[in-house]
Amino acid sequence: PVPVLLDCDPGHDDAVAILLALGSPDIRLLGITSCFGNCAVEDATRNAQRVLALAGREDVPVAVGAAGPMRGELALGNYVHGISGLDGPELPEPTVAPVEETAVQFLARTLDESPEPVTVVVTGPMTNLGHLLTERPDLTEKIRELIFMGGSTERGNHTPTAEFNTYADPEALDVVLRSGVLLRMVGLNLTHQALATPAVVARMSEMPHEVGRTCAAWMGFFGDSYHRIWEFDAPPVHDPCTIAPLLDPDVIGWRDCFVAVELDGTWTRGTTVVDLHDRYPDEEANVQVALDLDAERYWDLVLAALDHLGAP
Ligand code: BDR
Ligand code: CA
Repeated sequence: PVPVLLDCDPGHDDAVAILLALGSPDIRLLGITSCFGNCAVEDATRNAQRVLALAGREDVPVAVGAAGPMRGELALGNYVHGISGLDGPELPEPTVAPVEETAVQFLARTLDESPEPVTVVVTGPMTNLGHLLTERPDLTEKIRELIFMGGSTERGNHTPTAEFNTYADPEALDVVLRSGVLLRMVGLNLTHQALATPAVVARMSEMPHEVGRTCAAWMGFFGDSYHRIWEFDAPPVHDPCTIAPLLDPDVIGWRDCFVAVELDGTWTRGTTVVDLHDRYPDEEANVQVALDLDAERYWDLVLAALDHLGAP
């Protein structure tokens, strides 16, 4: 199995990403680190723990991460994910405390101790990784690749041009983009192909266990937000799109591109600039950018993992 560290801000789609990782025997989840984002970091931590409790996997360590960005103002996504950051169905409360190390300490130690390079997945703001690679640039050698949900080749969601995760901490993303780590970016242009249609939600709710039914209820809350704010008919389930390609290399098509993030800009702070057509020939490609999703394969992977976790 691929060793994975998951840094996240759960969040309905982060929660599904956690379940996809836990329910896939080809992945060994070494730990979860939390970050502010969809909600305050305390809530994101608790939500990660509640998802682990739902899955019966409280053996996976959780470390508390950043409460705010490296620079600039705090942005939170409660307007999408509710007061708790994971509103909707009731969840079991955690019975295990987070580890005493901070997220950055936990990530550094886990990478230091790993005999093999580790895949790092980030589905929230890039803050924890920004701090880690600033303090310990040598650790790039221990990261097999870093795959993140953020940005877009097209337009944004939190602002007209900036996606939420990249808006929430552009400086941290900038550190990572310049770090030399093998990077894969899964932006809105890709995740808007990952829609939880009524047919997908029905497959979840018909599962004979709590894991499937809980996911269906999450999609209900998340879908209502997406309908109210962005007029979507079905919610895009962004974050598991970072895990799926670790399980099936053909689920996403990629292109090597130069990617930068706008740190200033009167209206465009946090916007990713993706050079799809080599308009900056002097800039080397630094990111594999996700372009096409095979949605059928994607949902088959997600639903199989939920069933694997939920079935007795
Ligand atoms: C991203 O922001 C959050 O709302 C989601 O969890 C996802 O990571 C989408 O812009
Ligand atoms: Ca997220």
